[in-house]
Amino acid sequence: MTTLDQLESPQLLIDLDVLDANLQRMRNNFADRPLDIRIHFKSLKCGGLARYLCGKGMTKFLCAKLNEAEVLAESGITDLFVANQIIGAPKLRRLCELAKRAQVRVCVDDAANVEEMGRAARAAGVTVDVLVEVDVGMGRCGVDPGAPALELARHVRRQEGLRFVGLQGYDGHLQLIADAEEQRHRCLDSLEKLVGTRRLLEQNDIPVEVVTGAGTGTSAIVGHFNGMTEIQPGSFLLMDNAYHAVRPEFACSLSVLCTVISRRPGRYVLDAGSKAISKDFGMPAIKGRAGDNVLKLAEEHTLVDSPDGNVRVGDRFEVLTAHCCATMNLHRQCVAHRGGRVEAVWPIEASGRYD
Ligand SMILES: Cc1ncc(COP(=O)(O)O)c(C=O)c1O
Repeated sequence: MTTLDQLESPQLLIDLDVLDANLQRMRNNFADRPLDIRIHFKSLKCGGLARYLCGKGMTKFLCAKLNEAEVLAESGITDLFVANQIIGAPKLRRLCELAKRAQVRVCVDDAANVEEMGRAARAAGVTVDVLVEVDVGMGRCGVDPGAPALELARHVRRQEGLRFVGLQGYDGHLQLIADAEEQRHRCLDSLEKLVGTRRLLEQNDIPVEVVTGAGTGTSAIVGHFNGMTEIQPGSFLLMDNAYHAVRPEFACSLSVLCTVISRRPGRYVLDAGSKAISKDFGMPAIKGRAGDNVLKLAEEHTLVDSPDGNVRVGDRFEVLTAHCCATMNLHRQCVAHRGGRVEAVWPIEASGRYD
């Protein structure tokens, strides 16, 4: 049995006990509701971890990019939703290839793309499940709620090879709002737009099987809103400082194991920097050392201010990142452990891929 102290550092760690508790907490929130929890794979990017979750009954996955869906299909997972626009003939061919070995859903927000997707599906002899993406206020992709979404849903239904299944409405602009009342108020407003669009489609005799959205930050509100059928959080499993500040009920299972390689009074240096620890959402923290303050991430060094001075060269600390998804994307493998005993070393097949 390998233990963490036998491993070289830096090393990306996942504490499976903490991850299991996060999963259970999310499931408990909706135990009394007919709601699907579709896990966002852009946070994980790791087929071994996806298979682990499947073993716990979590078989539905969301992806940001086609390569993530392909990694999942390679891992034997077949209920896939790429919540993004798939544009251009080469990517549409890949999508249709994927549809031969998995049930794959995709978003659309453009009529010409819908027509090209229909042609690609017919040429490949597959049916692609399509959700119309609605912009519920984030201002990223998506058509406006109401009539524009109705128009596009009708267009999808006219294409042989495509099957309209429902509506996607992700509220990314609301995830990290710290004030619970403000978040709730704005979230209900965006949900009204999305579920109002569902009602409009149904009044026009278009069945809507799926209405999906939410992330870790808004899942508790969205998942209890009548008319929603699915939530799509990802970060709640691994977690990071930024999310933990607003969702303290989920703990950080992800960390980067580091070694102190240099010290001087009031300061020490760790053996990993911005090439192993994402800083796009802010500075990381040192697990169990509340008084320490990360000053700077260089490429391969992290400089930490440590007033208590009680640190020796060779000490090992776990670094808790400010952004779990971006940190997964920096590594090629992760070590899954329980209480410091290694259970698995999984490749992170989709890390560093953007296609
Ligand atoms: C389409 C979509 N759904 C859901 C999420 C939520 O993910 P998380 O739980 O990591 O906030 C994201 C995050 O970027 C997203 O882009």
